[in-house]
Amino acid sequence: INGTGTRDEKLQAICQLLDSSVNVFDWTGFYLDDPDEEKMLYLGPYVGEATDHTRIPYGTGICGQAADTLDTFVVQDVAQADNYLACSIHVKSEIVVPIMKDGRFYGELDIDSHTKDAFTPEIRELCESVCNKVARLF
Ligand code: SME
Repeated sequence: INGTGTRDEKLQAICQLLDSSVNVFDWTGFYLDDPDEEKMLYLGPYVGEATDHTRIPYGTGICGQAADTLDTFVVQDVAQADNYLACSIHVKSEIVVPIMKDGRFYGELDIDSHTKDAFTPEIRELCESVCNKVARLF
């Protein structure tokens, strides 16, 4: 976070570190708030398979709901989620954590897993603490 490089280079490095450190993480990326379009997320740095969902309106999917409510979403079985955007048929669970600074929403960390029930309370805490630190980049 404090090193050299652009914000996006740092976000990319964080994706790589998280994705390679935790076995059950199979897609790790950031969706960022689009400054040019109201209530719209765009895909930022990520590690994993390319996704069709490069722009997500607030309210749509898990990512869009997190942007709307500013809550962490943990979906332990995506097959049971009704407002969900599938990126890959292999994905079984997902976590989305908002990035907030001074009460403002800047984007979110999104992690997919090919394992059901992948996101333990410890992993949630890890992701939330990463987002607290990442907020300094905005
Ligand atoms: N599954 C997300 C969409 C983004 S992909 O997981 C990378 C959602 O429901 O918002």
